[in-house]
Amino acid sequence: MSSKRVLLIVGGGIAAYKACELIRLLRKRGHTVRCVLTAGGAHFITPMTLAALSEQPVHTSLWELKDEVEMGHIELSRQADLVVVCPATADLLAKMAAGIADDLATTLLLATDKPVLAVPAMNVRMWLHAATRRNVATLREDGIMVMAPDEGPMACGEFGPGRLPEPEAIVAAVEAALSVPPSPYVLGEVEGRDAGTAPGTRTPTSPSANCILVGRHILVTAGPTHEPIDPVRYIANRSSGKQGFAIAEALAALGASVTLVAGPVALATPAGVTRIDVETARDMAAAVDAALPADAAIMVAAVADWRAEASGLKIKKSGEPPALALVENPDILATLSHSPRRPRLVVGFAAETNDLVAHAQAKLARKGCDWIVANDVSGPKEQSVMGGPDNAVHLVTADGVEDWPRMPKAEVAQRIAARIAEALR
Ligand code: CTP
Repeated sequence: MSSKRVLLIVGGGIAAYKACELIRLLRKRGHTVRCVLTAGGAHFITPMTLAALSEQPVHTSLWELKDEVEMGHIELSRQADLVVVCPATADLLAKMAAGIADDLATTLLLATDKPVLAVPAMNVRMWLHAATRRNVATLREDGIMVMAPDEGPMACGEFGPGRLPEPEAIVAAVEAALSVPPSPYVLGEVEGRDAGTAPGTRTPTSPSANCILVGRHILVTAGPTHEPIDPVRYIANRSSGKQGFAIAEALAALGASVTLVAGPVALATPAGVTRIDVETARDMAAAVDAALPADAAIMVAAVADWRAEASGLKIKKSGEPPALALVENPDILATLSHSPRRPRLVVGFAAETNDLVAHAQAKLARKGCDWIVANDVSGPKEQSVMGGPDNAVHLVTADGVEDWPRMPKAEVAQRIAARIAEALR
């Protein structure tokens, strides 16, 4: 990639020290980095460190007359090709979402007409807090690219999502952000958005082959649901969650911000994916709704069609087997497909044991989604797709049916992710 100008806003978090490595890597790749350090950031690293690494003046205050004379803050916000906020603290994200401009960093962010990439880092509870989730959703709707934080042990001693992604992953996202066309949200193509005031004035160049989904938020459901019968028993199915997790991982690898709503499975969260664990179909429906808006939704979960009217106490043997009264669960896919908040692309899965393609075509029409990925789950347990490493799928769309050969689930996932990227372009 040719040399670009990055304006790096360093927020006030312990991850601020990683901004130093980011500057080094970006410069090694030929880019120019100019830094803005917030007052919070200055508690963790000094302007001198940033100036030495970037070999550029560092800006810290809106009220610095010398800086303002040399380069006004409006100009500073616009002369870069990309604005990167790293680390983006919960406070900075909240101010960005609310349009607050009370210091140099937030003023630049409000005044810029350039694409913005935010790289969050914060305590896990802060990242999972409803307020932060709301702010991130608002920012994504506004066309700001918000990377998903990594999951792992944190400086504060807790564990979970909130860690700053590795500098190499940030560099990949930066370069992808510099090469992708602006999000449709930024261009104002989405209903109710004002194209006239859209800041997406960047000339689209060819998208990077690796990170073509940067700036897209994609929702994936995976695994089974468990429907309680009583406090110790439940209705379940054999879904392992492997295909859905592989799809979430493949989408994240293409740069998407992925929210993975997972039923009870024993699988590790793919790097860079925001995971929400749920148990029942109703929990899953609520988590899907809370994760909107999204550019695409891929519903891989094997949602239980029925739930029992659960007993609060353990059901005891009493001579006669108990009668289980079943109630139908909400159809998450159909509800989303017909919702006013419907993502641009909605993909369902169909697990069938007979008449696979005919059932999938009927499901496509019934559920109102754009594609159905159909897989045959018949056969003995040892060779079954459910729980096994491979899958043979058929991609059913309004245009016809594609039969894909049997391949590892990871490869199915990569192919599906590539098709999604193509559809969202
Ligand atoms: N699905 C859903 N909510 C449900 C049931 C299914 O969102 N309550 C979604 C699944 O995630 C999948 C698709 O619908 O993407 C098809 O699921 P499947 O179980 O194959 O279909 P059903 O609707 O259950 O139809 P049937 O039982 O007749 O096969």
